[in-house]
Parts: sequence; structure tokens; C-alpha cells
Amino acid sequence: MMRKGLIIALISLLVDLGTVSAQTLVIYYSFTNHCREITTSIRQQMTADVLEIEPAEEGIDYAADNYNVGKELILAIRENPDKAESYPEIKPVSTKLAKYKRIIIVTPLWWNNMAAFMQTFLFNYGAQLAGKEIGIIVSSHSSVMDPVVADAHRLIPDGRFYSESLWINNSNHARRDMIISNWLTVINRESGIRTYNKQRPTAKGIYNLNGQQLPQAPDHGIYIENGVKKVRIKN
Ligand SMILES: Cc1cc2nc3c(=O)[nH]c(=O)nc-3n(C[C@H](O)[C@H](O)[C@H](O)COP(=O)(O)O)c2cc1C
Repeated sequence: MMRKGLIIALISLLVDLGTVSAQTLVIYYSFTNHCREITTSIRQQMTADVLEIEPAEEGIDYAADNYNVGKELILAIRENPDKAESYPEIKPVSTKLAKYKRIIIVTPLWWNNMAAFMQTFLFNYGAQLAGKEIGIIVSSHSSVMDPVVADAHRLIPDGRFYSESLWINNSNHARRDMIISNWLTVINRESGIRTYNKQRPTAKGIYNLNGQQLPQAPDHGIYIENGVKKVRIKN
């Protein structure tokens, strides 16, 4: 009897150790799989837990009617961003956010805003992310990420955002492993968290933050050389 109790205590200790070792939580929503693939790439490169945000109602095609089904959801939020009723319902979330120091949000762009269901999650839980290190990854067809990053700041007013967010569009999605690796280099330098990085692809050569190889270091700005972030300031 004693031995059984001891074994159970040992197992729960090991489970606890396992859960505290991941200090990073990746939170993603994905309708057509791009953000799911981005999340998979992050998990291949670092230790992180994952939370998927899911709409309460299943089987709806948000791209239907020339993307107007999704547009209705975005317009409702734009009209009344402070009202809970404006946000479409998501499935209940049971992840304990308190134990994570770093949150990486991976979200699609919809009609130049953050996808509606990720907005719902952050409207409900953004206050619980106060003081945490926040990284934002935006996936879009071609529209730039800035309005989505602004949504994140509105919904997590007291987050400690990394200076660089990451935009992955349809033309560089296939290069996501390298782009994410470069971005992790940038945020790890800013972070107080020592992440255990698994096999991060570190390419020899000079790259911009979009993962494009450059013939030489740029005159000014941020670039990655042999996996190390560098900044050149114009004279
Ligand atoms: C309702 C809706 C609206 C969208 N609006 C835009 C847009 O305004 N600009 C853009 O570049 N892509 C837009 N997209 C494309 C998605 O941002 C892009 O395909 C993204 O990679 C999807 O991520 P996911 O596959 O994880 O869902 C939209 C997609 C949907 C479903």
C-alpha cells in the first residue's frame, strides 16, 4: 500500500516537472492549416506547449460567399470592440495560462484584422497575459501584418511584446522553418527565458527576417548572419 502511494507520488512529481519545463505556450487558430503548420514548425525547434483555439460552432466555411462569412464576424467586432457579444463563441479553454512566461500567438489575418476567433480568446483572456513575454506570428495571403499586431496590443494591453513580430505570407510559407528559426534567434536575445532549442535549422549566409538570402549584409537594419542576429545602423 505504502509502495503504491510512493509510486503515485513519484509519477505526479515527474508529470509536474514535465509541465513546468515548457515555459512557452503557443496559442493558435487555423482555418486552412497554415497556422497549424507554423505551430508544428515552432514545436520542432523549441520546447513549447500548444493551445488550439476552436470555434464553438463546427463546420462553417468562413471563406464562403467570397470570404463574406468571415467578414461579418470581423465587422461585428470592429463596430463594438468593447462588447463581449461582438465576439463569436469559442470552445472552452482549460489551459492554465498562469504557469507560462512566454506566449506565442499564431493567427491568420482576416480582412486586415486578427481572425475573429483569436480575437475572442484574447478578449476573454488578454488580461491574464499581463506581464508575460508576447510574440506574434501573422499568416496572410498577402496583406501586411501591422493591423493584426495592433489588435494584439489592444487585446493584451499589459503584455511585454517582443520588438519584432513575424509575418509569414503565402509566398514564403514554404520557407517557414528558416523564417521561424531566424525569428526565434531575435526573440531569444530579448527574452529572459532560456529555451531548449531542438534541431533549429541555422543556415550559413546572410538572411533578412523574411528568410530571404541576401548577397551581402544590408547598409542598415536587422539581418541574420550564420544564425546570429545583427543590426547595422546607417551613419
Ligand atoms: C475570412 C477570411 C478573410 C481573409 N482575408 C484576407 C485578407 O484580407 N488579406 C490576406 O492577405 N489574406 C486574407 N485571408 C487569407 C488568410 O489570411 C491566409 O490564407 C492565412 O494563411 C490563413 O491561415 P490558416 O490557413 O491557418 O487559416 C483571409 C482568409 C479568410 C478565411
